[in-house]
Amino acid sequence: MPGPVLLLGAPGVGKGTQAQILMSEFGIPQISTGDLLRDHRARHTDLGLLAEDLMAQGQLVPDGLVNKMVADRLGQPDAARGFILDGFPRTLPQATWLDTHLGQNASAKPVVAVSIQVDYDELLHRITGRRTCPVCRTIYNAFSNPPKATGICDLEGAQLIQRSDDSEEVFRERMKTFDLQTAPVVEHYRAQGRFQEVNGDQSVDQVTSAITSALRQLRSK
Ligand code: AP5
Ligand code: MG
Repeated sequence: MPGPVLLLGAPGVGKGTQAQILMSEFGIPQISTGDLLRDHRARHTDLGLLAEDLMAQGQLVPDGLVNKMVADRLGQPDAARGFILDGFPRTLPQATWLDTHLGQNASAKPVVAVSIQVDYDELLHRITGRRTCPVCRTIYNAFSNPPKATGICDLEGAQLIQRSDDSEEVFRERMKTFDLQTAPVVEHYRAQGRFQEVNGDQSVDQVTSAITSALRQLRSK
């Protein structure tokens, strides 16, 4: 059932966690614009240097730069059968750019979008507990999904890191940015019809089942 899938939702709803599971289930890549930008930051590229301050303030990186980065990634061979976009599009101009970009490939399946919903207090709790492996990117949570040994990745043995934008203060800014700039994107895809909403305030497995069943329904339309 591959093809292009968009995972939409506020900071901490579980986009990355679910995209990693769906990627191994369907054999299509997860494309996280947040991860791509963090890679640029780590490599000190021009884009990374520009993105650094904006990410630290919970603001978005300019559309043109992000669209170009996504275009490059979508052009790689592993994305030909489909992909899971995590954290993109995040503004209406990004959404219209993506619609046009994907529309140019007439043989591709239409894009389907799933929006994950979790309330504010639970999101704050998740964000402050998140820890990530810098090597394999596995996502843990100090409260709900801790590694076997505190602070160490189960798979790589690497020291887990806490994202610099996962403070309560920056989370508040990220939520404001989401409400102002990304909530209209959710409405854009709702209006297009190939869209479903799932409750993200359940166990990780239950959320995966809800997304998988939403995708089956959307793909059978
Ligand atoms: P990005 O990295 O995309 O951050 P985000 O959207 O704020 O989302 P998160 O990664 O914080 O959350 P998530 O939904 O992936 O949750 P996760 O699965 O980790 O973007 C970062 C920054 O980059 C932006 O602020 C912006 O500056 C820039 N940027 C990125 N994309 C851009 C774009 N398109 N345009 C412009 N700028 C862009 O889960 C969170 C925690 O909860 C984890 O600890 C996890 O273990 C836990 N958890 C997950 N599911 C459950 C569950 N069901 N129950 C309990 N705990 C759970
Ligand atoms: Mg993420």
